[in-house]
Amino acid sequence: MLYAIETEGITKKFDEITAVNNVSISVEPGELFGLLGPNGAGKTTLISMLSTMIEPSGGRARVWDFDVIKDASSVRQNIGVVFQDTTLDDRLTGRENLDLHGRLYGLDGKTRKKRINEVLSLVELSERADAIVRTYSGGMMRRLEIARGLMHHPHVLFLDEPTLGLDPQTRNHIWEYIKILNKEEGVTIVLTTHYMEEADHLCGRIAIIDHGEIVALDTPTALKSALGGDVIILEIEKPDEIARLCDIYSRNGCANIISKKGNEVFITVENGEHQIPHILNLASSAGISILSVNLRKPTLDDVFLHHTGRAIRDKEVSEVERVGYIIRSRRK
Ligand SMILES: Nc1ncnc2c1ncn2[C@@H]1O[C@H](COP(=O)(O)OP(=O)(O)OP(=O)(O)O)[C@@H](O)[C@H]1O
Ligand SMILES: [Mg+2]
Repeated sequence: MLYAIETEGITKKFDEITAVNNVSISVEPGELFGLLGPNGAGKTTLISMLSTMIEPSGGRARVWDFDVIKDASSVRQNIGVVFQDTTLDDRLTGRENLDLHGRLYGLDGKTRKKRINEVLSLVELSERADAIVRTYSGGMMRRLEIARGLMHHPHVLFLDEPTLGLDPQTRNHIWEYIKILNKEEGVTIVLTTHYMEEADHLCGRIAIIDHGEIVALDTPTALKSALGGDVIILEIEKPDEIARLCDIYSRNGCANIISKKGNEVFITVENGEHQIPHILNLASSAGISILSVNLRKPTLDDVFLHHTGRAIRDKEVSEVERVGYIIRSRRK
């Protein structure tokens, strides 16, 4: 087997919406692969097709060498899924949730007992295993869901927004489990996220997805270095002068890539610190007033901005709204 996941032009249409459009990706066994994109980009839809939850409208996909349509049950035997919204039964204990999952996968009593203890210990929930899930914190629930996804020793684990709405400390904690699973247990992991730092920190390769299409795919380092050495951010006093300023910079060849966001202009250049005086002189000669100047290394947000013309955060629903939604759906 060459690839853990291989898709060829996979597409999903919901009436007039094309949620995933002609996506072709290959993920090797042992990779930690990220799908990074804003709300509505098509991340969950792509994962849902790969995990056989929904059927593609077009194209092909194989997971662990099984076709997601023709061999759906073999695909399911080989994968674990942690969904974006919790699917735990909060009236049961953690252990009971895991046991239920083990039964669904046909594990016998002895195997279930052993595996439950293993996965609980991996996510450090052994002590709270017999408490009702409703009494768990958000981070504990997420850890239990990851443990559940691992019950049947999957080769490929899909994690849909594994740390959504968690505090930074809990997020770091979950990152550590994800790394251990990948490095020490050899599980191939595909995770979706709209947190740039999560993709950057965890993933060996990242596919940036927007409007259902992959707009860039590479290692985080390669994605960032493709933009050039440094990013200079200029805050402009009058936003209506931004277009004229960008035009001046383009004509003077001092920038690789210029993009705009609000009243800021982003310029990527080699040796940024040496370029700043020249860039400021050009603005000043044109009578354009600059309020502030910032210099930093490119981030994945810059990569997204470069490929899509806008920042990933522009499209985000606020965290509070999303967490509110998760809590509401849990209480239904
Ligand atoms: N069952 C469905 N019926 C109709 N449209 C859908 C359905 N599921 C998803 N969509 C639409 O498909 C697009 C992609 O949605 P998807 O949930 O895959 O995005 P996402 O990248 O996971 O977003 P988020 O970050 O909010 O989870 C959106 O426009 C969404 O409204
Ligand atoms: Mg989603």
